[in-house]
Amino acid sequence: MRIYLDHNATTPLRPEVVEAMSRALRDQFGNPSSVYAEGASARARIEVARGQVASLVGVEAGNIRFTGGATESNNTVLFGCLASGDHVVTTEVEHPSVVAPLAVLEEQGVSVSRIKPDQDGCVDAAEMADAINDQTKLLTMIWANNETGSIQPVQAVAEACRDRGVLMHVDATQVIGKSSVDLAQTPIDFLSSSAHKLGGPKGVGALVSCGDTVVPAFLHGGGQEKGLRGGTENVASIVGYGVACELSAAEGPERMEHSGKLRERLWHGIQAQVESVRWNGGPEKTLCNTLNIEFKGVAGEVLLQALDLEGVAASAGAACHSGSIEPSAVLLAMGRSADEARASLRFSIGWGVDEEQIDRAIELLGELVPRVRQAEAP
Ligand SMILES: Cc1ncc(COP(=O)(O)O)c(C=O)c1O
Repeated sequence: MRIYLDHNATTPLRPEVVEAMSRALRDQFGNPSSVYAEGASARARIEVARGQVASLVGVEAGNIRFTGGATESNNTVLFGCLASGDHVVTTEVEHPSVVAPLAVLEEQGVSVSRIKPDQDGCVDAAEMADAINDQTKLLTMIWANNETGSIQPVQAVAEACRDRGVLMHVDATQVIGKSSVDLAQTPIDFLSSSAHKLGGPKGVGALVSCGDTVVPAFLHGGGQEKGLRGGTENVASIVGYGVACELSAAEGPERMEHSGKLRERLWHGIQAQVESVRWNGGPEKTLCNTLNIEFKGVAGEVLLQALDLEGVAASAGAACHSGSIEPSAVLLAMGRSADEARASLRFSIGWGVDEEQIDRAIELLGELVPRVRQAEAP
């Protein structure tokens, strides 16, 4: 039995999504831009999905632009809003799909203020607002971090941006489906989302635009998405995304409670079985499904491989780049040392995980962590 505890990386597809996608692949094969019946049928299914995605985040269907995922949504906003001479405010705990475009823009003459998080991974709303100056065109921030689950004070920052007349973009990829998002209450301009984090397929997402500002097309082509995203629509994936959003809207509170209980069980179990562990983030301002733990003195990637061999999938606080192990920039920003970051693992829970699986993971960690520690001892 495999135990999949890496739902922040991607989620298994919900059976209802697979079913709806299979039907769309078979029945809605027409090009949505074609004027005859086959095209109209595909177009109609896209519009149903647009309504399902919109309703999950509290906007009208017309506010949704389908994209190829959150990376594309983030790039569309950043390259569409910023030009040489502009200033942008962001955090030190962004996803690479924001970090990398901002680095390119910085080389092109955009100035970037990056706000440091506290030791739990959260930035201070007042510090974000204070970084706004007369050149500030945009504030971009992650809503909840993919590695730690730390939730940022988006509401307070959004109100400050509105008061100062600065555009705000939020990368909500990890939050949607794990915490309630109601854009009728939160005055942001742009939001990025991705289907594969909530039981939908990979390679499809949305850019939600709420204010009056229209971000120009990032992909130019045949005028799809009202001229804002060229390329024939990925009909089946858009359909799957819509169904995933509908399921999320229907099951949201129940699902969050379930994940929260399993996450607590995992944390308490690990504390009982394994010595010298620390929660990177803590229970206060963290997504209900995410547990990032430092196992002191452990080589995270070795523990990860040992878990994999025993059937458990999790994720490390370090990534291998060109043969060297790079500690997580997010954990470093939170004040962890490189060794502490390397000793950290992320467990993220979601649909399909049950108590039995959590208990088995705890049991395995109780056996494997001392073994890895012993092997690593000088
Ligand atoms: C916070 C965050 N932003 C953006 C992305 C990129 O999403 P996609 O895979 O849809 O491009 C991810 C995916 O890992 C993410 O966790």
